[in-house]
Amino acid sequence: MDLKGKTVRLNKYIAQAGIASRRKADDLISCGNVKINGIAVKELGIDVKEGDVVEVNGRRIEASEKKVYVLLNKPVGYITTSFDDKNRATVLDLVADIPQRIFPVGRLDYNTSGLLLLTNDGDLAYRITHPKHHIYKTYRAQVQGVLSGERAARLRKGVDIGGFVTSPAEVSVIKQGERSALVEIKIYEGKNRQVRKMFSAVGNKVTALERTALGEIRLGRLMEGHYRKLTREEIEYLKSL
Ligand code: URA
Repeated sequence: MDLKGKTVRLNKYIAQAGIASRRKADDLISCGNVKINGIAVKELGIDVKEGDVVEVNGRRIEASEKKVYVLLNKPVGYITTSFDDKNRATVLDLVADIPQRIFPVGRLDYNTSGLLLLTNDGDLAYRITHPKHHIYKTYRAQVQGVLSGERAARLRKGVDIGGFVTSPAEVSVIKQGERSALVEIKIYEGKNRQVRKMFSAVGNKVTALERTALGEIRLGRLMEGHYRKLTREEIEYLKSL
């Protein structure tokens, strides 16, 4: 970013360098991980001006990296955070050949597979994950037992998942077998383990979960563990939300 006599908020500068969303940047700042001109700054709302040297975790950053947008088909058995203290594989291991420092947009559980976006565009990541934008996420869940009409109706209306009542969801049973069902569910919130908790609230345990779409962006036939760059249309669609 060329500041040319202007100033920009520190959290925005960090987001535009692709380090983290603005909200996460605020956490980095409050924890004392950010320095301007060699001095740690902990207050939020500080501005960066032309010529300032900004460091995050001891590394100098520049708010001018080329933006990249990647769609990964996350396999089960990878964690979505960038670092794991138990040394488990992370989704970043699957995109290691991308030169920019990208980070996951939102999360998928260790045992969930499917569509995961990664980018270094902190502002876009923030917009996609903010619930006020109501971007539907589509999941396919394999659940134990019969998902009766009455249970599906409760899921559609909203269920209590432990102190939080979910917003209206779209639910359709794709296939009901004798002992299990394949169900498509669309939600726009992203509470921790929300889909699993919603099914468990109506008495159906999830045995496999895959995210198949984020708004209009679809996983399609991308193989597990593989990734592709988003198309120009897909990027524009996300920016228009
Ligand atoms: N809901 C879940 O339960 N798990 C996920 O990974 C995503 C949504």
